Formats: sequence, C-alpha cells, structure tokens
Amino acid sequence: MMSVRTAGYLAGVVSFGLLCGCQPTMPSLPNPIDPTDPTNGNARYIGSAACRACHPEVAALHDLHGHANALSRIQGAEPVFPEAAARAAVPDPPVGKAWTDISYVIGGYTHSALFVDQAGYVLTNGTEGVDTQWNLEFLDNGTAPGFAPYKVGQTTPLPYDYDCFRCHTTGAKRQDANRPEFQDNRPGMAGTWEEMGVQCEACHGPGSNHVPSPEAGGIYINTRASWCGRCHISGDDPNVIAVEDGYVSAFSQWPQLLASGGHADFDCTYCHNTHASVFYDGANSLRNECTDCHTDQSMALHEGKIFVQGDYVERMKCQSCHMPLIARSGSAASRAVVGDEARVGDVRGHIIRINVENQDYTTMFSGDGSRVLKDDQGRSAVTIDFVCLRCHNGNSNAFQLTLRGASSVAGDIHVDPNDP
Ligand code: HEC
Ligand code: HEC
Ligand code: HEC
Ligand code: HEC
Ligand code: HEC
Ligand code: HEC
Ligand code: HEC
Ligand code: HEC
Repeated sequence: MMSVRTAGYLAGVVSFGLLCGCQPTMPSLPNPIDPTDPTNGNARYIGSAACRACHPEVAALHDLHGHANALSRIQGAEPVFPEAAARAAVPDPPVGKAWTDISYVIGGYTHSALFVDQAGYVLTNGTEGVDTQWNLEFLDNGTAPGFAPYKVGQTTPLPYDYDCFRCHTTGAKRQDANRPEFQDNRPGMAGTWEEMGVQCEACHGPGSNHVPSPEAGGIYINTRASWCGRCHISGDDPNVIAVEDGYVSAFSQWPQLLASGGHADFDCTYCHNTHASVFYDGANSLRNECTDCHTDQSMALHEGKIFVQGDYVERMKCQSCHMPLIARSGSAASRAVVGDEARVGDVRGHIIRINVENQDYTTMFSGDGSRVLKDDQGRSAVTIDFVCLRCHNGNSNAFQLTLRGASSVAGDIHVDPNDP
C-alpha cells in the first residue's frame, strides 16, 4: 500500500524520468505524520535522548553528522567527538586562554572552530589580540591544523546570542520583553535554546505529543529545501548568494541550489540521505549519486583518473568538477599549494553549472564582490579557476593548464574524441 507521501515522491520520479531518463530511489515513509504543523500542536521539547530509545538506527547515523556536533559544552577539557570522525579535534584554546575560560566550542567537527568565553562572547582577534579560529586539517587544500585570524577588526565583544546560535542549536528562542532570559545566565547569550546542536527536534519539531502514542503521529517531517534553508542560508534572502573575501559564503547551500538551473526545484533530500554525514559516513550519505539520475553522462575524459596532490588523493567523480570548493568556512589554499590562478576554499558548492569561458572568479561576483551574479534565468555558473585549475595547477599529478588553456578544452570535455 502506498501512502500519500510516497506517492508524492514517485510523482517527482516520474517527472525526472521524462526529463533525463533517470530512476532515483526515494524512501517510502510510513504514515501517519503531520506534514503541516512544525510545533506539533504546541508540544514540548523532550530532547534527543528520548528519540534515541525508539529510533536507534536514525540516531546512530545522526550522531556522526555535523548537526549533532555543531556545538559542544566545555567542562575544563577539550571537546570530545565520536571516534569515527578522524579529523575532528580541537586540542587547545587560543593562546593565553585555558579550557576553564571557555564555555562552548562552536564547530570543530568538519572545518573550523570558534570559542565562547564564560561570559558568553565569541573570542575574536580584535578583542583578544591573538588568532582565535581553529582550522582542522584539510588535505584537499593543503591546510595543516592550526590557529587563524577571526574578525581582526572587531572592537567590541561579539555576543553568542540568538542571532548567532539559532542555527547551531535546537528550540532556540529570541530574547524579548516577555522572555528576558539569557542562556545559562551568561550576559553574552541573549535568548535560550532547548538542546545544543541541530538535534532531532530542530527538524521534526518538539516531540512530547509524539512519544506517548507514536502511531498517532504528532511529529513533523518537511523535506523541502527551504526547511533546511532556514540555516543553510547567508543573510535573509534566498535569492542572494553571499560572497566574503573572494569565496562563496560557507552556509549558502540553499541560495546556491536555487541558482543551479536544472536542480533549482530540488529538495536537498533528492541527493542527501538526511541523517548521514557527508564527511564521516560517505557510504550512506547520498541517497542518489549524480549518475543515478544522469545515466547517460560520461566522466568527461576523466574516467578512472585519480588526482594526487601532496597527501591528498581524490578519485574523480562528477562532483570533482561540478561541485568544486568554491566556499570557505575556515581555510583556503595558499598560492604555494595551488599556484597563482587556482581558487580552492574548503566547502563544496551546489551551483553545479560551469562557465567554460576564459574568465576568472572575479567575473562570477558582483562588482563590489558581495554576491554571486546570475543570468536572466536566475542561474549562476562557476568559473574554471575554481573547477579545472584546482587540480591542473602545476603542483600535482595533473598536467598544468592556464585559465586560457583550460577554457579552450573545457567546452568539449564531455565529448569523447574516440567517438565518431
Ligand atoms: C516510544 C517510542 C518512540 C519514541 C520515544 C519516539 N518515537 Fe518516533 N516513532 C515511533 C514509532 C513506532 C513510529 C512509527 C509510527 C508508524 O509507523 O505509524 C515513529 C515515527 C516517527 C517519525 C515519522 C516517520 C513515520 O513513521 O511516519 C518521525 C519523524 C519520528 N518518529 C521522530 C521522532 C523524534 C524526533 C522523536 C523524539 C522527539 C521520536 N520520534 C520519539 C516511536 C517512537
Ligand atoms: C543562518 C544560520 C547560521 C547563523 C545565523 C550562524 N551560523 Fe554558523 N553555521 C551555519 C551552518 C549552516 C554551518 C555549516 C556550514 C557548512 O558546513 O557548510 C555553520 C558552521 C559554523 C561553524 C563551524 C564551521 C565548520 O563548518 O566546521 C562555526 C565556528 C560557526 N558556524 C560560527 C558562527 C558564529 C560565530 C555565528 C554568529 C556570529 C554563526 N555561526 C551564525 C549556520 C549559521
Ligand atoms: C536536519 C534535519 C533533521 C534532523 C536533525 C533529524 N531529522 Fe529525521 N528526518 C528529516 C527529514 C527531512 C526526513 C524525511 C526523510 C528524508 O527524506 O530523509 C526525516 C525522516 C525521519 C524518520 C522517518 C524515516 C527514516 O529515515 O527512518 C525518522 C524516524 C526520523 N527522521 C527520526 C529522527 C531522529 C530520531 C532524529 C535525531 C536522532 C532525527 N530524525 C534528526 C530531517 C531531520
Ligand atoms: C544534486 C544533489 C544535491 C543536492 C540537491 C544537494 N546536495 Fe548537498 N551535497 C551533495 C554532494 C554530492 C555533496 C558532496 C559530497 C562530497 O564531498 O563528495 C554535498 C555536500 C553538502 C554539504 C557539505 C559541503 C562541504 O564541503 O562542506 C552541505 C552542508 C550540503 N551538501 C548541504 C545541502 C543542502 C542544505 C541542500 C539543500 C539546500 C543540499 N545540500 C542539496 C549533493 C547535493
Ligand atoms: C537548525 C539549523 C539547521 C538546519 C535546519 C539544517 N542544518 Fe545542516 N547544518 C547546520 C549546521 C550548524 C551545520 C554545521 C555543523 C558542523 O559541521 O559543525 C550543518 C551541516 C550540514 C551538513 C554537513 C555536515 C555533515 O556532517 O555532513 C550537511 C550535509 C547538512 N547540514 C545538510 C542539511 C540538510 C539536508 C538539512 C535539511 C534536511 C539541514 N542540513 C538542515 C545547521 C542546520
Ligand atoms: C534526483 C536526480 C538528479 C540527481 C541526483 C542529480 N541530477 Fe543533475 N539534473 C537532474 C535533472 C532532472 C536536471 C534538469 C534536466 C536536465 O538537464 O537533464 C539536471 C540538470 C543538471 C545539469 C545541468 C544544469 C543546468 O541547468 O545547466 C548539470 C550540470 C547536472 N544536472 C549535474 C549533476 C551533478 C554533477 C550531480 C551530482 C552532484 C547531479 N546532477 C545530480 C537530475 C539529477
Ligand atoms: C573534468 C570535469 C568534469 C567532470 C568530471 C564531469 N563534468 Fe559535466 N561538465 C563539465 C563542464 C566543463 C561542463 C560544461 C560544458 C559546456 O558548458 O560547454 C559540463 C557539463 C555537464 C552537463 C550539462 C551538459 C549539457 O549538455 O548541457 C551535465 C548534465 C553534466 N556535465 C553532468 C555530469 C555528470 C553526471 C558527471 C559525472 C558522470 C560529470 N558531468 C562529470 C565538466 C565535467
Ligand atoms: C579533481 C582534479 C581534476 C579536475 C577538477 C580536473 N582534472 Fe583534468 N585531469 C586530472 C587528472 C589527475 C588527470 C590525469 C592526468 C594524467 O593522466 O597525466 C586529468 C586529465 C585531463 C585531461 C587529459 C584527458 C585524457 O584524455 O587523458 C584533460 C584534457 C583535462 N584533464 C582537462 C581538464 C579540464 C578542462 C578540467 C576542468 C573542466 C579538468 N581537467 C578538471 C585531474 C583533474
């Protein structure tokens, strides 16, 4: 028997089938759920420990995800992350601080970490006079673990308040006249949250009405990109892809998807297996690979090629070209690593489309460098200094290409020269 939700998914599959002959697999969700009310009838938050008891498989996936580890409470020692997360570690607080000076670490799990002091303010270079951002090892762009500057120009303490913590916590509430609370009574932390990290109820709504009789529903599921986009957005406008210092904003996946042309109407969950980490559970993380839908696309002359640069090894996939590291969370490659022309941040992009012209990254951005440009159909495209030169930069096993040289072959890269 088919539920209404499942039928909805299949309708999507059928329309893909017409467009590209693809057969993506979608989960069949059991009923009943309440797809309309994210408050679940004004239920209370009960915490993810309660959900774990009955949903152990989902919980096991979720525990390895960045969502579960977005914020760590510090109690006199470095944060502890799941062992399977090999790169995740924040061994020391910034110079001059002890762990006892730190209340929370933000991140530290996938790219970088920042530190919140006991008064509830985020440490910045401007206020501390030392580097306050910890970058994890990131072989993809040659970054070794270490401290880096964060907000050099910051002159006043930076509060870790609702506007900052709302995307790293569950059940966050803004402070207002009727609710004058500060989380943990720390003066920098105006507003409150129910649980650290992006836990079950951040997406499914509060659970107190579901648990007593789960068969009756009382829980929310929303698969739309806009629901993920509440947090995966830079600024307030999904039509703007923000740019900072020459790299796309690290948390702008929703605006990028909307500018991706053929994928603009997609849910994130068409590709992502929502609960599984792309970093530490690669085998489970994608519900549909590119080739599950694009069954007739080739590997663009790169079939079976393996890219090696220093200690970094990447087996070529569609993502290698179509989702290059256009965004920056913590680090970007130095010229010593990738040469003068290549651009390599530390977060993969979702724009997907490639501009094969002999044009560098500055042409991808508005004149003031604040946002990614779009064409008259609302689509963006990534320049090939981000795409081809990431690898063909003279410092790897891929032969060197200039921007001009890459441009002269990129337009035909999907055309097999041996094909008549
Ligand atoms: C007492 C056991 C129990 C607890 C505790 C529990 N669930 Fe469930 N949950 C279930 C069962 C059983 C179903 C399946 C209902 C059905 O198939 O009719 C379900 C269904 C769901 C669904 C919808 C998928 C579906 O089957 O339609 C979601 C989402 C969900 N639970 C999330 C949560 C979250 C989040 C929590 C914690 C706030 C939680 N659950 C706590 C037993 C539980
Ligand atoms: C609109 C939601 C949103 C707001 C507001 C927000 N963040 Fe984040 N933050 C995110 C998302 C999404 C990520 C993950 C980005 C990624 O991995 O691509 C993230 C990641 C991080 C990380 C970890 C980086 C990593 O990926 O390892 C740190 C540190 C961080 N944010 C600090 C802050 C600080 C400090 C503020 C307030 C000044 C803030 N954030 C405000 C959404 C937000
Ligand atoms: C980032 C948002 C998010 C978080 C966090 C999250 N879920 Fe989900 N969950 C979803 C979405 C979206 C779906 C719909 C199925 C899909 O397309 O992946 C879903 C589906 C489910 C389902 C039904 C289908 C299945 O995969 O079994 C259950 C049960 C569930 N979630 C429980 C949980 C529990 C328990 C947690 C915490 C341990 C959790 N979820 C955390 C977004 C989330
Ligand atoms: C067309 C398929 C597709 C869609 C749609 C999609 N993603 Fe992704 N996403 C991927 C793939 C593939 C990766 C990279 C996996 C890898 O590293 O090889 C990824 C990686 C990510 C990352 C980690 C990026 C990094 O390098 O730090 C985040 C965060 C993310 N996606 C969020 C989202 C969100 C939020 C949405 C919806 C707004 C979304 N994705 C929609 C395919 C997709
Ligand atoms: C409440 C805010 C919030 C919501 C809602 C949210 N995310 Fe995230 N997401 C984050 C933050 C914060 C991080 C960064 C955690 C870290 O790496 O430290 C993140 C990281 C990620 C990552 C990379 C981390 C990993 O381990 O793979 C993916 C992929 C991702 N989100 C996908 C999604 C999808 C898909 C949805 C919707 C189903 C979604 N997110 C909804 C805040 C959110
Ligand atoms: C769920 C199915 C699905 C998945 C997964 C998927 N695509 Fe697509 N893709 C489509 C559809 C449908 C279109 C629009 C029709 C078309 O162009 O065939 C499209 C369009 C495109 C386009 C043309 C964009 C434009 O408008 O110019 C590119 C490039 C592309 N996809 C690459 C990828 C890559 C790379 C991945 C993996 C990261 C991927 N796709 C994953 C279904 C999918
Ligand atoms: C070596 C880099 C590279 C790899 C690997 C690669 N592509 Fe492409 N792809 C490109 C470039 C460059 C273009 C743009 C060509 C143009 O605009 O003339 C493109 C265009 C496309 C298009 C649009 C084609 C059209 O006719 O409009 C699709 C769809 C696509 N790629 C899908 C894929 C899929 C799926 C994979 C993996 C099987 C893949 N690509 C692997 C570089 C690559
Ligand atoms: C992830 C790294 C990576 C990216 C991205 C990449 N390449 Fe390559 N490319 C390689 C490697 C590795 C080889 C194999 C080198 C060798 O065999 O000497 C290769 C081989 C080639 C070849 C020779 C193919 C053959 O017939 O053997 C051409 C042409 C080429 N790349 C052009 C491009 C262009 C143009 C782009 C951008 C659209 C691009 N590459 C993107 C790594 C990459």
